[in-house]
Amino acid sequence: MSKGGFDHYMLKEIHEQPEAIRDTVAESLLGPATAGTSSPVGYLPVRDPDAVLLLGCGTSYHAALMGEQILSQLLTVPVTARVASEFQKPAVKAEQGLVVAFSQSGETSDTLTALRRILGQGYASLGVTNVMGSSITRAVDATLYTRAGPEVAVASTKTFLCQLVTLYLLGFHLATDRDAVSIIPQNLQVLPDLVRQVLSRDSAIQQAVRQLTKAEHIFIIGKGLGVPIALEGALKFKEVAYLPTEGYPAGELKHGPFALLGEKTPVIAMVLADEHRSRMITSIKEIKARGSTVIAIADRGDGEVAEFADMVLPVPKTDPLLAPVLHNVVLQLMSYYCARKLGCPIDRPRNLAKSVTVP
Ligand code: BG6
Repeated sequence: MSKGGFDHYMLKEIHEQPEAIRDTVAESLLGPATAGTSSPVGYLPVRDPDAVLLLGCGTSYHAALMGEQILSQLLTVPVTARVASEFQKPAVKAEQGLVVAFSQSGETSDTLTALRRILGQGYASLGVTNVMGSSITRAVDATLYTRAGPEVAVASTKTFLCQLVTLYLLGFHLATDRDAVSIIPQNLQVLPDLVRQVLSRDSAIQQAVRQLTKAEHIFIIGKGLGVPIALEGALKFKEVAYLPTEGYPAGELKHGPFALLGEKTPVIAMVLADEHRSRMITSIKEIKARGSTVIAIADRGDGEVAEFADMVLPVPKTDPLLAPVLHNVVLQLMSYYCARKLGCPIDRPRNLAKSVTVP
């Protein structure tokens, strides 16, 4: 396995994301998501679930959290995400429920244990994994493979984006309102190029990290679909740069964490062009007033965000359902460059394993 000219596997795998997304869409067992596809194809163990449960650990749990919001917008049944290591029993009784377990390795003990707890409780099971023939594929009724290729770095990057792609495909095939999802196939066709555009802005992102590597504490904040991405971004900063970083719902910062704000606590604010945008701008003003530096991630050309944030890292405008993917790529690169500046062993962080196969 070579690093392909990159300094670390993590950076190589971040830059492999456009192809990983393309391959996952093209080869998905859900069939090519082409507009007008009438109904789910046979690979789903249940075609019309009366409840959906999403499970995972670490980064895979953040995919589950994204799924809870995305699928809740597209389905009319209860959709719940639960962290697998805490899962005991489903919150929703189901006659023909669907449990979707995310695990890029397919070997995480906590996720496999959670799956065993759900058996016989009216839920058919679907595994989403990056490793052919992994343990999870033998524990579920059906498997959807992400096509990210081998992921060597301990920190999950391209496999996370491919988990999100699989969620969009699931939403496309399970949604009751076909019109609401007709945009998904063409969105998934353009997503690789949008990610390439973010990757090409690498140097601006490297500038931003100067503020962060000396921080005592970092907050990454968002609203709506920005919250799981804030959690995922914070996990990357912890995993590879060892920086104390918390992903937080923007509206919750005033209920306590404001006490931590000041020059040693920079804040990364994700401003999605959705119904939460103005609230995010208000949060930026409140945070600035308390002495923290604010680095915003926002649509290119958003002058209002630029007026109030200390720095803006722009992303291409796109569908609000896809924008969190682009914000996540910015956060991946920020965490990588912080780790590089701090001289961390990026591909093999201390105390961590690529997959925890013991309880
Ligand atoms: C942890 C890894 O051990 O397991 C994380 O350090 C990962 O990066 C988590 O997200 C879950 O792993 P998997 O293979 O179940 O997605």
